[in-house]
Amino acid sequence: MNYNKKTVRDVDVAGKKVLLRCDFNVPQDKETGAITSDKRIVAALPTIQYLLDNGAAVIACSHLGKPAATFESYAKKQAEKGKEATEEGWKKSLAKLSLAPVAARLSELLGKPVIMASDVVGPDAQAKAAALQPGQILLLENTRFEKGETKNDPELAKAMASMADLYVSDAFGAVHRAHASTAGVADYLPAVSGFLIQKELEVLGGAISNPKRPLVAILGGSKVSSKIGVINNLLEIADTIIIGGGMAYTFSAAQGGKVGKSLLEADWMDYSREMIEKAAAKGVKLLLPVDTVCADAFAPDAHSQVVKAGEIPDGWQGLDIGPETVKLYCDAVADAGTVIWNGPMGVFEFPAFAKGTEAVAEALSKTHAITIIGGGDSAAAVEQLGYADKMTHISTGGGASLEFLEGKELPGVACLLDR
Ligand code: 3PG
Repeated sequence: MNYNKKTVRDVDVAGKKVLLRCDFNVPQDKETGAITSDKRIVAALPTIQYLLDNGAAVIACSHLGKPAATFESYAKKQAEKGKEATEEGWKKSLAKLSLAPVAARLSELLGKPVIMASDVVGPDAQAKAAALQPGQILLLENTRFEKGETKNDPELAKAMASMADLYVSDAFGAVHRAHASTAGVADYLPAVSGFLIQKELEVLGGAISNPKRPLVAILGGSKVSSKIGVINNLLEIADTIIIGGGMAYTFSAAQGGKVGKSLLEADWMDYSREMIEKAAAKGVKLLLPVDTVCADAFAPDAHSQVVKAGEIPDGWQGLDIGPETVKLYCDAVADAGTVIWNGPMGVFEFPAFAKGTEAVAEALSKTHAITIIGGGDSAAAVEQLGYADKMTHISTGGGASLEFLEGKELPGVACLLDR
């Protein structure tokens, strides 16, 4: 895939109406709806500011959460939960996912008004977009309120595109979605990237296509099944692959180890064996835990002990990598040219089982290597531990960065104009 895409700097934006796709899918407090982290809004500011400063009128849009766009789909979801659906309940569920709080925060950050539309391509959006002047910004309502959004409906894409002269995407977190606002609109407008996507493509693309070696990939998280694509692709690229987290127990069991009550994906044991063989055949170092912190229950205050990998007693479960493994993994990080990290080493929500993840984060903060953190849990861990500014790059995309590392074509990137 070509990562060298035109950006806002390669086109003339003065006097243009720009449809700007952002990823304003921000976390919110369940009770109050208050935004609990504005990181994604802050990350979009450089592109927004550039467009406004250079005479564009900005029509920003984004999804937020996974709303039911029709009453039928809402009723289906409610039925799955054994609950009754009412029209009022549906409206309330939509109101909770309005982008109005994002407009308010964006306005504070920009220090200027953000005009909010009450729909996406309806009369309010159309009228406000038509009246928008250079230097002004309008935010459309949640794109997923339109049922055509996730289906990449061309009619919706056309209607969104009709309000603008140019499409700019800066929603890296959503580029793995082939939706109307992330990809479809590019069929009807010239399409370029903003600064956030540009940076993500430069850093992640550089690490994949021309890494400073040795390239070490640290893969954690609970399931082998969710990381298959990444392991497979990185076996072609990396010098060392480090496995941690729950998925290590499937690898251990595949080699005949005793894993007790640890998380195990029995269906993926053959695959794990294949990966071990493939790594050996390709000369890729595949590091697996040599010891484990196991517990007698999945609980923060469970009794724990350190045992050799593959020797977990019956009834016990592995919840973190052990101290010898920590040393092995941290040594690999210290000698690396580039490190890509995706997924925690253990159950880091429980302080007693967070040591492996903490140690890896600390090792990354000290290495001279280029350090790239895939979004999601590992990004959260690095931030919580206060190492964020020590990393070369923390991706803003969870699912998107994972699919990037799988080598998949990302629809929201593929649709942008090549340089
Ligand atoms: C994310 O939060 O990873 C992105 O905003 C994509 O959201 P989605 O998984 O709901 O498409």
